[in-house]
Amino acid sequence: MIRVREANAADRASVQEIHRAAFGQDDEAALVDALFQDATAQPVLSLLAEAQAGAVGHILFSAARIAGRKAALLGPLAVWPACQRKAIGAALITEGLARLRDDGVAAVFVFGDPAYYGRFGFGPAHAHGMEPPHPVEEPWRDAWRMVGLVPETGSGRLTVAQSFDDPVLWRV
Ligand SMILES: CC(C)(COP(=O)(O)OP(=O)(O)OC[C@H]1O[C@@H](n2cnc3c(N)ncnc32)[C@H](O)[C@@H]1OP(=O)(O)O)[C@@H](O)C(=O)NCCC(=O)NCCS
Repeated sequence: MIRVREANAADRASVQEIHRAAFGQDDEAALVDALFQDATAQPVLSLLAEAQAGAVGHILFSAARIAGRKAALLGPLAVWPACQRKAIGAALITEGLARLRDDGVAAVFVFGDPAYYGRFGFGPAHAHGMEPPHPVEEPWRDAWRMVGLVPETGSGRLTVAQSFDDPVLWRV
């Protein structure tokens, strides 16, 4: 049984541990910390998935703007390695999208695996006239994805938090 709830300051160590274990490096855990402290990323939506044994997954959505409207950028997302393929990632994404929709966010963006995020309605963002903050090289263009939460999302270049506004993060 998995419960998804908003993460709080007391969850910091668990959140860091999940990202380090899932990615096998420190970069994403550091990005999570940077986004928490980044005024331009607020409001962040930080969700934790809990099993009986404790925290097993975490997702972060940071504030962004598209065509003058509220948007969100998904990432990082991580599930504890031994708990992967049990729909925990799916639960975090689905809950996050529902909350952002309730919050009036027009569209959610991600730079990630097209097959995985496609399951949750994320389609090719370039095809909708949505440009990433930094150019994405041809083999990875399909990884730039979006899902609209309102009928009319507009188009243009996504403005993201300072912590995400780094060309290095837009290369694979
Ligand atoms: C990507 C990730 C968050 C998915 O979470 P999850 O809870 O395992 O995903 P779900 O159970 O909702 O979905 C399962 C699907 O995810 C993909 N997947 C999950 N774990 C995988 C793994 N270790 N290797 C390859 N694909 C994987 C598969 O497509 C799988 O579908 P299948 O079981 O039908 O083959 C998780 O695998 C993870 O933390 N990976 C490392 C960090 C990462 O890459 N984060 C995403 C950055 S964009």
